[in-house]
Amino acid sequence: MTQYIGILTAGGDSPGLNAAIRGVGKAGMNAYGMHVIGFRDGFRGLMENRIVRLDSKELSGILTVGGTILGTSRDKPHKMPVGDKNLDMTSVIIDTYEKHHLDALVCLGGGGTQKNAYRLAQHGLNIVTLPKTIDNDVAMTDITFGFDTALTIATEAIDRLHSTAHSHHRIIVVEIMGHNAGWLALGAGIAGGADVILIPEIPYDVEKVAEAITQRSRSGKHFSIVAVSEGAMSQELAKRLNAAEENIAKAKDKAEKKKYKAELAEIEQERMQSTPVLTTQLEALTGLESRVTILGHVQRGGIPSAADRLLATRLGTACTHYIHENIFGVMVAVRGDDTEPVPLEQVVGKRKTVPPDHPWLDSTRNLGVSLGD
Ligand code: F6P
Repeated sequence: MTQYIGILTAGGDSPGLNAAIRGVGKAGMNAYGMHVIGFRDGFRGLMENRIVRLDSKELSGILTVGGTILGTSRDKPHKMPVGDKNLDMTSVIIDTYEKHHLDALVCLGGGGTQKNAYRLAQHGLNIVTLPKTIDNDVAMTDITFGFDTALTIATEAIDRLHSTAHSHHRIIVVEIMGHNAGWLALGAGIAGGADVILIPEIPYDVEKVAEAITQRSRSGKHFSIVAVSEGAMSQELAKRLNAAEENIAKAKDKAEKKKYKAELAEIEQERMQSTPVLTTQLEALTGLESRVTILGHVQRGGIPSAADRLLATRLGTACTHYIHENIFGVMVAVRGDDTEPVPLEQVVGKRKTVPPDHPWLDSTRNLGVSLGD
C-alpha cells in the first residue's frame, strides 16, 4: 500500500535540516515506495496549504546546503497570527492533512515543535518528529542535529578571538547561543580553551569571574576569553527570575498573574542584555580592557558538518521505517549508534539542560576554568 507523507521544518533553522529532509524523502521513495510532499514555512504552510513535491529532482544536491529548502517559521497551529489576531487554526491544518490523504506528517524541530506536533497528534494526526536544534536541549534524545555544526563554528570563533585577545592583552567576552541550556557555550568553551565559561544552569557571581581573570593576570597571562551563553545570568538576576516565576505560579487571580508576567518579561529583557553589561563590569573590576563579541545567527548558518549530515540522514531514514511500521506519536531519538521511537508525551514540556554532575563540568573545573560560581 502506497503511503503519502508530509514533511515540514519548524522553529529556528539548523544545519542538517536538508540532510534530514533528503533522508526522509529518499528512503521513503526507495525503500518503501512512499510519496512525499513538503509544506513551506512550518505549520503556517501546512495551514495555508503551500506545498512542494519532494521528488528525486527536488531532493538532489541538498545534502550539504545550510538552512531548510522548505523554509521555517515559529508559528504555532493553535495560536497562529492571522490579521491582527492569534487564532486556533488546528481544524484548517487537519483539513490540509486530509486533503492530501496523508498517512503521516513528519515535523522537524526543537522543543517548541515537539509540543506543537504533539498537539496535532492528540487531534488524531499520525505524527513522527525528528529532534533538531543547535542548542541540543531536546529531552529524551542523546543529541540533536545542528549542534555539532554550531559547536564547530563557536569553537573556531573562540580560536580566532584568542589571538587578538592575546595581542591586545584584553578580556574578550564571547556570547554563544543557548537561551536556557548551556551545551553550546560549555562545549565550545572547553574545545576552544576559554578561561571562564558561564552557562544558564550555573548563575554567576561577577566578582568571582573578575577574581579568576585577575589571578590569570598575576600569573603573567594578561588576556582572558570568557565564553558565555546568551541566557547566562548573574546570581542576583537568577534570584529575581525565580521569584517572579514563583509569584506567577502562586498568583491568586488573572490581574496578579498579568502583573508578575510583565515583571518576568522585564527580567528576561535584562537577561538578554547581560553580556555587554558583564563585559563593562569585568573591565571595571579587573582594570583590563574588555571587548564583547556576539556570535548570533552565524552559528546557525552555512554547511552542516559531516557529523550532522550523518546524524540527520540516520534520523530521516529511520523515520520512514517507523512510519512503514505504523509507529506514530513519537520522536525519533538518538540512542548511541541506533535510534529509538520515544512517545511524544515523554518529550514535551521537558528540556535537556546541563546537569550539575555532567562530566563536561567536571573536566571544566578540573582544568581550573572558572564557571563563575
Ligand atoms: O533555538 C535555537 C536558537 O538559535 C537559540 O539558541 C536562540 O536563543 C534562538 O534560537 C534565537 O531565535 P531567533 O532565530 O528567532 O532569533
